Amino acid sequence: MTPSKYSKILGTGSYIPSRTLTNQELEKMVDTSNEWIIERTGIKERRLAKLDGSETCSEMGAFAAKKAMEAANIKPDEIDLILFATVSPDYKLPSTAAVLQQKLGIKNECPCLDIVAACSGFLYGLVIADSMIKTGIYKNILIIGAELLQPFVDWTDRTTCILFADGAGAAVLGRADENDSSKILSSTLSCDGTGDKLLFVPSGGSASPLNKEKLERKEDKLVMEGKQIFKYATRTMMRNSQMALEAAHLSVSDLQWFIPHQANLRIIEYLAKKLEINMEKIIVTVEKYGNNSAATIPIALDEAVRAGKIKRGDKCAMTAFGAGVTSGAVVLQY
Ligand code: ACO
Repeated sequence: MTPSKYSKILGTGSYIPSRTLTNQELEKMVDTSNEWIIERTGIKERRLAKLDGSETCSEMGAFAAKKAMEAANIKPDEIDLILFATVSPDYKLPSTAAVLQQKLGIKNECPCLDIVAACSGFLYGLVIADSMIKTGIYKNILIIGAELLQPFVDWTDRTTCILFADGAGAAVLGRADENDSSKILSSTLSCDGTGDKLLFVPSGGSASPLNKEKLERKEDKLVMEGKQIFKYATRTMMRNSQMALEAAHLSVSDLQWFIPHQANLRIIEYLAKKLEINMEKIIVTVEKYGNNSAATIPIALDEAVRAGKIKRGDKCAMTAFGAGVTSGAVVLQY
């Protein structure tokens, strides 16, 4: 295939689990209060998937992907590559992308790949897809960000259980030419591995296989250095946003929309202040959905598109940070 000057988002989709967990319910589970959670995180309620197999990571991803393919007007066998960003895969192996392929009825044996970049996973996927479309290797790439974090959360740990949630978002990326009003303009990705223990699951991987004692110590659950993560989050998202804007020859005032990773409202407000972006330009979903990691950005994007906020041609920046510590930003004309 011939190279393409640009890539563009052809369509988006998302899936929000129906079960709502409110702050009032959390008050009955751990020593916390609605006021504390709202003041420190902005989260009022979050969504959790059913654990009966009907809302697995791949199932939620499939719901979102079908909507994105429908919006993009792309048939299953027109997908050339599936990139599935998640830290809560259905299985250790095979990849969740492979599990998803058959759920979408894709029979063309397209390659399938999971991306493990935590909350930055969707943006990592977007950047990989963008470069593969530009080089002409693939024409249509499906990118999913989906998480079923529930099993990895310690629901007795008030410092983490108030934050995390489940959900899925997706986008189909395709070719664009110079005159197209929709295109990805620039991107940056980064990772500072010195922060690898700031947000991690201590055991269950090959470095520390689970045993009875480790399970009793709940080493299969997520642990987080909240204050450190806060600092990393604001620093890395600010730097990546500035670098991507500079590469696109744009300034913050040129943007119609800004979609940051939805970890908590305080991080978003701090970032908005530092970058001097009006909160009205920022898409915020964290109050109602919580932090569903790789899914937050594609969900926020899809909701804003379907609500008629983000329109074709609008300039939009997206930025994320996640465990690793990974980070990135993408600037595009939707
Ligand atoms: N309810 C009530 N009190 C709590 C709770 C809770 N849920 N959690 C902690 N506390 C207590 C602490 O025990 C502490 O008590 P102490 O002073 O008696 O020791 C007090 O509240 C203050 O705790 P801090 O950790 O200092 O609270 P902080 O203001 O830093 O807020 C928070 C904690 C919200 C986690 C904050 O650090 C933060 O926003 N960090 C960013 C982390 C984040 O967003 N992670 C998302 C995942 S990362 C990602 O998406 C890639």
